[in-house]
Amino acid sequence: MRFKIIVAAISFFILSCRPDNKYSGNQAIKFNQYKFQGEQLYISHCLNCHQKDGSGLGKLIPPLTTDFISKQQEVAICGIKHGLQGPLTVNDTLYDGIMPNNPRLTPLEIAEIMTYISNSWGNDFGMVTTSEVNKALKKCNN
Ligand code: HEC
Repeated sequence: MRFKIIVAAISFFILSCRPDNKYSGNQAIKFNQYKFQGEQLYISHCLNCHQKDGSGLGKLIPPLTTDFISKQQEVAICGIKHGLQGPLTVNDTLYDGIMPNNPRLTPLEIAEIMTYISNSWGNDFGMVTTSEVNKALKKCNN
């Protein structure tokens, strides 16, 4: 009996220390919630163009599997809200398409989508918070 408890305690300890657990405790729960909600929103708002695996579509739709979404986070956030068009270089390829706006998405929903795309398909850029989204939107909400 005591042995089982010790084994359970050790397994729990090992599991919660796994290096691939980016966050722990409440942060981990929030991160997983954002990712889960973000995936649902991605499926209904983005998947048609950027595809299930984020790979985009030839020369028409850029991939989301690059560090663009991390290095140019504000462009990504403002683009999701207000749409995006004009020449854009992603992964050394020039795109010149039109991405539609999503004026009804809330800052929380945008944070969830950003967290999902920033941590899927091999991307590992960490969580995007609502306050980061609000900060970015302030710069393009006019
Ligand atoms: C109708 C097709 C379409 C839909 C739907 C769409 N996009 Fe895009 N997206 C594009 C195109 C086209 C571009 C490139 C725009 C340009 O050339 O300026 C783009 C660019 C981007 C970029 C910046 C470049 C890159 O690849 O990192 C991000 C980030 C992005 N989209 C994310 C999203 C997200 C998230 C959604 C869902 C909320 C979404 N898009 C919905 C077509 C679309």
